[in-house]
Amino acid sequence: MSHSSNHVSRSPDANGYYGDFGGNHWPERMRPALEELTGAYEELRASPEFRHELDTVRVGLQGRPTPVHHLENTSNQLGGARIYVKREDLNHTGAHKINHCVGFALLAVKMGKRKLIAETGAGQHGVALASAAARFGLECEVHIGAVDADKVNANVSLMRLLGAQVVPVAAGQSTLKEASDSAMHAYAEQHAHALYGIGSAIGPHPFPMIVRDFQSVVGQEARAQFLSITGGALPDHVVACVAGGSNALGLYSGFLDDPEVALHAVEPLGRSAEPGQHAATLTFGRPGTLHGASSVVLRRDDGGPAAVMSIASGLAYPGVGPEMAMLSKSGRLSVDTVSDEEAVATFLRVARSEGIVPALESAHALAFAIRLAAGRPPTERILVNLSGRGDKDVDFVLTRYDGNESLRG
Ligand SMILES: Cc1ncc(COP(=O)(O)O)c(C=O)c1O
Repeated sequence: MSHSSNHVSRSPDANGYYGDFGGNHWPERMRPALEELTGAYEELRASPEFRHELDTVRVGLQGRPTPVHHLENTSNQLGGARIYVKREDLNHTGAHKINHCVGFALLAVKMGKRKLIAETGAGQHGVALASAAARFGLECEVHIGAVDADKVNANVSLMRLLGAQVVPVAAGQSTLKEASDSAMHAYAEQHAHALYGIGSAIGPHPFPMIVRDFQSVVGQEARAQFLSITGGALPDHVVACVAGGSNALGLYSGFLDDPEVALHAVEPLGRSAEPGQHAATLTFGRPGTLHGASSVVLRRDDGGPAAVMSIASGLAYPGVGPEMAMLSKSGRLSVDTVSDEEAVATFLRVARSEGIVPALESAHALAFAIRLAAGRPPTERILVNLSGRGDKDVDFVLTRYDGNESLRG
């Protein structure tokens, strides 16, 4: 949780804004809870003891550092730029989410809270939070859309096994947005004894900042590892998939102040560019307020959050974190999209040519990197955040994929 990047220590401003985006748009009655959290976090982030405890858990429970690995077979097949991955799939519980879950758990203990509450989409965040809560002797309550709960059944069982109370949410599309609404409501009721271990770099200040800071371990490690592997060269391109932005901001934090490193965000195009068929917020969204922060939001004509769709449950969210919105607006970040079909083809390709099964979320980032590499010379290097492993997606993909060319149904 060090803050080596100037950018990371520059933003947000004192009111929790990243340029035009961010702030605190929760009801007034939540202000004391957010102020308590801001005060506690500001104190603890500077504490060597807190950092030491966090680093110890990162090594023993999480298995950090995770390696940077060259996808040699894929790179050779393409004959273009070389692709490297930051292996966040090797984290305990299988995704980058645990980087901020252990941080929130330690924060809760220091603040005298006894419970963690959060939402989950793909179930990765829920399992990570349940594990961190168990490690620190905290209760845990995870809200998940009923549709997602069916899709990632094994993760639901795992959360229960780890002692979490799983709350299925049947409302609206019964996916990530509704789970977030429900978790935020539960936190509003229970904040006297509970901390919200939010699933991404979203929500009112200080949540986006805290999540980004806890995830910045990814970028800091990756930068040092990359320099060591290449004998001093930085990547030309850094790529991550994005829903709220936690894995993207984590990896970017190592490279934000290097203008020669191009940053890419990859959004889910789902079935098509038609409204309701994708979840590409930065690509098609408009300024708006969602889950307590002003940002960019996919909105219906009447202004409410639009229906969204992606084969990757963890990417099906109609909003995006305020810092991602700021980076995109400023031009520091370029944004591209990958369809369900391209993500599934990449899931299978990487499994068979590299022996690694990526999460469908991460397969979006890999698919874009493969497209990018094909048009670039072998002297260029691309670093991708392999944000999670795809065990949760295996049955779903195999029953929907005909093994030859296209998705069924
Ligand atoms: C493996 C994985 N990658 C990426 C994401 C997207 O979230 P974020 O944009 O916060 O990294 C998720 C969300 O569930 C995920 O499980």
